[in-house]
Amino acid sequence: MTIQTYLTATAVTADADTSREADGLWHLRAAGVSLVLEVTRSALPRILHWGADLGDLPADELDALRAAAVPPVASGTPDAPVPLTILPEQSAGWLGTPGVTGHRDGADFSTRFLVDEVRLEHDVERDGAPVAHRMTVDARDAEADLALRIEIEMLPGGLLRARGRLQNTGAAVFTVGSLDLALPLPREADQILDFTGRHLRERSPQRHDFVAGTHLRESRRARSHDGTLLMTAGRRGFGYRSGEVWGVHVAWSGNTRTFAEQGMPTGERLLGAGELLLAGEVRLSAGETYDSPWVYASYGDGLDELSHRFHTYLRSRPQHPGTPRKSLVNVWEAVYFDHDLDRLTALADAAAAAGVERYVLDDGWFRGRRDDTAGLGDWTVDDDVWPEGLHPLADHVTGLGMELGLWFEPEMVNPDSDLARAHPEWILQTGNRMPPEARHQQVLDLAHTGAWEHVYGQIDAILAEYPIGFVKWDHNRDLVEAGHTATGGAGVHAQTHAAYRLLDALRTAHPHVEFESCAGGGGRADLGILERTERIWTSDCIDALERQTIESGTGLLVPPEMLGSHIGSPTSHTTGRRHELSFRGATAFFGHLGIEWDLTAASEAERSEVARWVAAYRQHRDLLHHGRSVRTDDPDPALRVHGVVREGSGEAIYAVVQLTTGVWAPPGRIRLPGLDPDTTYDVRPLAPGDDVEPGHGEALPPWWSRGVRLSGRTLAAAGIQAPHQFPERSVLLHVTAV
Ligand code: DGJ
Repeated sequence: MTIQTYLTATAVTADADTSREADGLWHLRAAGVSLVLEVTRSALPRILHWGADLGDLPADELDALRAAAVPPVASGTPDAPVPLTILPEQSAGWLGTPGVTGHRDGADFSTRFLVDEVRLEHDVERDGAPVAHRMTVDARDAEADLALRIEIEMLPGGLLRARGRLQNTGAAVFTVGSLDLALPLPREADQILDFTGRHLRERSPQRHDFVAGTHLRESRRARSHDGTLLMTAGRRGFGYRSGEVWGVHVAWSGNTRTFAEQGMPTGERLLGAGELLLAGEVRLSAGETYDSPWVYASYGDGLDELSHRFHTYLRSRPQHPGTPRKSLVNVWEAVYFDHDLDRLTALADAAAAAGVERYVLDDGWFRGRRDDTAGLGDWTVDDDVWPEGLHPLADHVTGLGMELGLWFEPEMVNPDSDLARAHPEWILQTGNRMPPEARHQQVLDLAHTGAWEHVYGQIDAILAEYPIGFVKWDHNRDLVEAGHTATGGAGVHAQTHAAYRLLDALRTAHPHVEFESCAGGGGRADLGILERTERIWTSDCIDALERQTIESGTGLLVPPEMLGSHIGSPTSHTTGRRHELSFRGATAFFGHLGIEWDLTAASEAERSEVARWVAAYRQHRDLLHHGRSVRTDDPDPALRVHGVVREGSGEAIYAVVQLTTGVWAPPGRIRLPGLDPDTTYDVRPLAPGDDVEPGHGEALPPWWSRGVRLSGRTLAAAGIQAPHQFPERSVLLHVTAV
């Protein structure tokens, strides 16, 4: 790793009684990314460049870069140039979204921070994960009685992250409105790509021009089916493989805001992000602090590079799943609430026969839970349905050599439950009214110690009693009008911290258990929850066609080994579409593979094909879960090519997906990106994803039966003929170095 740090002035260390001027420039580099920062006594960190690596800049060139970046004064603007700092302030002349908002009973509504101290560290760690460079800036606003700490880290893979800590140094309460961090964009970033969606259709891309004003995406429901995991902006037409692009993400599972803003009249562009705080949600008494979540920022020449920096970071953490990702069967769509031991054991037999390694019992096992109207909050086994507890099933599953997984929804409560009847005050609510019910449930206020301890105690007891290796942690409703009864104030911020504490405590008590984050499918897939879970349930929509888009959007942030991806039944339960097993298998293959289909109703032929998919997944998961994800920018919207290339480039697997019929036949040559240009490769269809039949009057490309041998350079630049495929089908190609 290259590390270069340059200071035009000595880094400031504040003495006890003095605060010296910091007139410094810092150039931080990692993995092809440069960040040039200026910090002065009178201005918080200002990013002079964030993007492509500038190389080993000598001191005078850094100074010249600073000089060249100073804008001339424009008519009708302040007399001095207005710096856009990482926490923009109106006191410096910034008229866009301010970095900090808040007040002290109406006063102290605007800030002017002066920098006391700047510290720089290299090759350090945070929570066991490597950090290439860390800058810590301490500042103070003596007028408003506030202290601020900004931390900026560059991670070895070139990913940036920053966060702020605001402290009330005054006597009276300071109410925090927002703390958003801002990263400047060059003028070339003139197109925005972010994501929208809903339950069953997460992460639908939307692309539009970057125009004057603020494109603001907020999550006011503590979930993000409809929100954006990533907000990106780049050069018009940027794609996966090329085109400069910058993106931000908030690592927080509560309410968030992410925005792309173009200020007037200067036209300066930025990406901003932070936690969305509800009115009065954070009130700091004397000495108290508010910590913003980390805002992650990634730059790439193409979305693949931007995405790879996230994957590299996630894989660098000590808690990143390091063991082979067990293929699993989840019983939800096979049985729903029909918990019949014979049926469930038969399903276990069929799964084990197919080579599956984990069996997950979903919703419906606990007290009073015969459908979705009752039971949440009472986490003891229902003895009407399970007179001997879960032991007969657990014994059967483990006897077959599989691991047992179990579903919980710890943050939720049905009004029809013993818990809600005993403690209505433990439900998040406002004044004397309950929020409108959703899926017949409410949110349990985990900031009440009693509620937290109740849920912890019951889940801990179940995990201690049964040989459970995996927990699916669900969260099926939005947080609306979510107030804390003890204070009458908004409670989403505290709830998010309390949910993290619950998960962390259970993980500490049961270190062998893996956790899946689910929120009605992929409603909670942020880096806050991913710090404490091994995978997400990507969507309740298992339709392979829909999954192609859902997984490509979510996969920009989340690497394949953390994307729960299942082979569903022949007819999708949520769309009614019918798909061949070859398409369902080839789609699930690129994530953490599972089966969510009543295999007991499948034919012998289907079961043996499932077994072939599970075997192929187990054979190739080392590559799929450690390699680099690549996608092409195929000019034909009917065709999608994506794959995973092993680091070192000795091997790759690609999928050639025919989403719909193309307007051309034959489809033409597809490119296989990401390989080593100077290595020669064999390209062959990979079983069982080689099941392609030409339609009437069509033939397969001549190379198909024998394979083809070409260099990585030729495969990326010239490509190979794609086979004819029926729509909603996919084939796999195995590429191995000769
Ligand atoms: C929503 C999840 O996304 C589903 O997979 C399933 O676990 C149900 N909840 C159970 O209620």
